[in-house]
Amino acid sequence: MSIQKKLFDTLNGNEIFSYTITNDSGAFVEIITLGCRLKQIVLPDRNGNLENIVLGCNNAAVYFESDSEYFGAIVGRYANRIKNATYNYNGKEIKLTVNENGNHIHGGKGGFHNIIWDVTNLTDSSITFETMQADGTEGFPGNLKMKLIYTFSNDNVLKMELFANCDQDTIFNPTNHSYFNLNLPNPDANLQFLKIEGNKYTPFDKELIPTGEICNVPEILDFTNFKRIGDGIAMMKDVPDLDLSNGYDHNFIISNEKKENKLLATLLSVESGRKMEVYSNYPGVQFYGGNHLNFKAICLEPQCFPDSAHHQDEPEWQPMPFIKKNEIEKYEITYKFSILNDSDTNDFLNTIS
Ligand code: BGC
Repeated sequence: MSIQKKLFDTLNGNEIFSYTITNDSGAFVEIITLGCRLKQIVLPDRNGNLENIVLGCNNAAVYFESDSEYFGAIVGRYANRIKNATYNYNGKEIKLTVNENGNHIHGGKGGFHNIIWDVTNLTDSSITFETMQADGTEGFPGNLKMKLIYTFSNDNVLKMELFANCDQDTIFNPTNHSYFNLNLPNPDANLQFLKIEGNKYTPFDKELIPTGEICNVPEILDFTNFKRIGDGIAMMKDVPDLDLSNGYDHNFIISNEKKENKLLATLLSVESGRKMEVYSNYPGVQFYGGNHLNFKAICLEPQCFPDSAHHQDEPEWQPMPFIKKNEIEKYEITYKFSILNDSDTNDFLNTIS
């Protein structure tokens, strides 16, 4: 295992560095200090051909201009939407920046994705990033300190561990916003097979704010068994749920507990043989089909449920995305990559037919 550092670019006079962790097989991940973004995850297909399976940009200006796509970034303090950009906590009304249809999404312009993080430690397989977000940034209470450790391994496991601590009680629901296409070099991301470990979701209104109901998934959203993403897209105009969001953009409930290292979803390409399992201690996962990017790649974003601050006393909405003053909280997201050879692929196709 080894790590290489280089200057990636400058933004408004500030240097942005890139760190590449390469494993013994030649697979590598590249992370930049702007938003701790995963710029590349380069993995072999079943024939050994290396391909970058996440969407990234070649310079900082493009990352900054395409701000609303959050390419590869850690987003927060609150990933997803908060209705009317306000919530009450401990009897206080907190007002956040409005950045989408009267609501708040993904932490605002001053969110984690636009911070240039410091690198405070390197080993041969891990990078530690740290930053501080000041009290009142985008309306969020408390000075928040964060430490984020990325580790890549020889068996192609990429782990993100985020430790946070704040000098006031605050809302906190960060995620990683990478767009995956395991299918490359075939560009059709909708050929990917997806399985999600939950059969309930949070329906939403035309602004994609949850209505408050928790429902069983209709057939088009049923990923409890593997199916190709494109099978749903083909029928989406007939289904109000997918028509509102112009494709898949749904939060699935996996659990109502914060449990370590739980499997949330599996993405798989029969064409390339690449497979990715997403593990996290988060209770839900947002499956976003890249609807505004011509479905070029898809996001699987572990998180607490969208707008959950407006459902604080409801058991089906637990656990809540809050952290207590001076307590250290840990969040983790792990992507476990593997390769299906020809015989594994045949076995897989037999199990789904
Ligand atoms: C959201 C989408 C949004 C996208 C880019 C996703 O996390 O679910 O609704 O369009 O991020 O901002």
